Amino acid sequence: MNAMPQWRTHEELPLSRESLEALYANEIPAIRIRDFVTADEARRLAAAMDAIGFTKQYNIPALKNPARYIGVTQFEFRKKSKADYFAAVAAANAEKAAYLAAAGVDPFARLFDRVRALYPERTLSVAEEPGHDRYYVGIIRESTGGGTLHADTARFSAPDYAIARCIAQLSWNLFVSEPAAGGVTTVHNAPYTPPSEDGRYAEIEPFNRRRVEGAETHRYKGRPGEVIIFNPRNPHEWTANESGDGTRRLSVGSYIGRLPEGDFIVWS
Ligand SMILES: [Fe+2]
Repeated sequence: MNAMPQWRTHEELPLSRESLEALYANEIPAIRIRDFVTADEARRLAAAMDAIGFTKQYNIPALKNPARYIGVTQFEFRKKSKADYFAAVAAANAEKAAYLAAAGVDPFARLFDRVRALYPERTLSVAEEPGHDRYYVGIIRESTGGGTLHADTARFSAPDYAIARCIAQLSWNLFVSEPAAGGVTTVHNAPYTPPSEDGRYAEIEPFNRRRVEGAETHRYKGRPGEVIIFNPRNPHEWTANESGDGTRRLSVGSYIGRLPEGDFIVWS
């Protein structure tokens, strides 16, 4: 087995070229952007979720209350056809447009513009599939019920899709409501590699906890208005709010993939 890697700091650095490069290279555990949206914008982004309503729920048998969301994920279509996934994108885009109109703020455009400003020589664009269409980008979700241990790496989970060209990918989440209990994410510094990488789909859920035994960990909780970015090839999980107090973990986010040439593509 490979020796477990170590991060060079546990400090959650602000967003910069240097911190993004370090996160793609798994040299640091996380980036935290404070005050990414105002308290009023966070309230509007949370209220708009209720105004539109969550239309989908993840299928995670181990959880009593899996996350519910607006939008569509490529991962949920991994066992269906590309045509099935891209057929679902148009409806998801309409839902997202209604959500953003209700909120009156677009955190996706804001975050992508922040990254573009750091890399004037690079492009950041929505991922596109040859012969199909653009991917959906922007998951809007309630994840108060916790998240089971898993890793996200398109290279392994979607080997026959264009997003598999990414040499690395990051996850970002803007938190707009924080649960009073639970909601703590643990990132395990044990970058996932499937047993064989031969171009076939590599199942990554359910995830064997033995893969993270002995690994360094980093824990974070996002406060309303903050963006946290991390490298989701590191297995990660978050705790549920089981207090019954009704406070919720609400967030919006996507992946930001890095192509071999250095450009960025985004999808969900
Ligand atoms: Fe994830």
